[in-house]
Amino acid sequence: MTQFEGTLIAGRYEIREHIATGGMASVFKTWDHRVERLVAMKVLRSLDKNDLRAVERFRREARAAAALAHPNAVTIYDFVEEFGQYFLVMEYIHGPTLKKEILDRRHLHALETLEIAAQVCAVLQVAHTRGFIHRDIKPQNIMLASSGATVTSAGSLLVKLTDFGIVRVAEDAGLTNSGIVLGTADYLSPEQARGEKLTASSDLYSLGVVMFEMLAGRPPFIGPTAVSIAMQHASTYPPPLHQFNANVPPALEQIVMKALEKEPEDRFLSAAEMQQALRQCAKELQLQARAHQTVPSPQLVPHNFQPGASGQGQFHSPGYGQH
Ligand SMILES: Nc1ncnc2c1ncn2[C@@H]1O[C@H](COP(=O)(O)OP(=O)(O)O)[C@@H](O)[C@H]1O
Ligand SMILES: [Mg+2]
Repeated sequence: MTQFEGTLIAGRYEIREHIATGGMASVFKTWDHRVERLVAMKVLRSLDKNDLRAVERFRREARAAAALAHPNAVTIYDFVEEFGQYFLVMEYIHGPTLKKEILDRRHLHALETLEIAAQVCAVLQVAHTRGFIHRDIKPQNIMLASSGATVTSAGSLLVKLTDFGIVRVAEDAGLTNSGIVLGTADYLSPEQARGEKLTASSDLYSLGVVMFEMLAGRPPFIGPTAVSIAMQHASTYPPPLHQFNANVPPALEQIVMKALEKEPEDRFLSAAEMQQALRQCAKELQLQARAHQTVPSPQLVPHNFQPGASGQGQFHSPGYGQH
């Protein structure tokens, strides 16, 4: 994926450095000469011009994500077709993906988990109201913005949901069921695993899986193959969360288990309802902590955040991530 490095796209975007390659695309650190700013450039992996479905999916990602314009969504700047390739230009996020954060720290605090999930709910609520289902909620697509310009205020964290890559207009939801083909089965909803029609509720289930992983350090279902994991999503009840992390408050475990219900009607009825439950739970935990004066509020973004030599954010807080 280094063949693009040094290439100038559309006479203005200079591709500088390969960041990562995911399920269906590669992402590059890119310099926009016209506006003189760093951007992220996404190139759809081996996009065949004749693969009209892939091309259309990529165009939809651009349009759906650009139209969203929400503080918790990565901003889409431009969409370029050149050299038979498709390039998506977006806001460059300084900061790790939630996946990296979980891998580095194993468990997140209850209050951090609640805050991150609530911010994802905020953007999902807007998307769902407009008829968009994200379809690929996973910690790799949740970025934790952590440099000056994107942090709302000192000590707070700004979540940026990315990759409306397989977003489709809800009315089109019957078109394909390619969730498994495109990536991991870890976050598949039961209905997706069964090949049934997706609804907004499927995103809330996947967010429940992400919450489980933030608290337990692993998703609820693991297995040797994608199919074995998908089958568990379809029909196995998740293991108790406190089995993996005894510090998870029961009220929080209840929320995660409700999100992970097999039947959509047993889950939260909307992202707004789930967000409200998360905020309420956070409020109660904070009150309890204050009453006991034992659990300090976690510092979501360390104040001594420093950009590393690579330009990627690095945390240097000795207390960050400890319990
Ligand atoms: N806007 C962005 N700014 C900075 N890095 C990004 C951005 N979007 C994606 N990335 C990085 O590129 C990686 C690959 O992204 P992607 O192709 O969407 O695959 P996946 O979501 O499966 O990891 C992400 O995991 C993330 O580390
Ligand atoms: Mg992604």
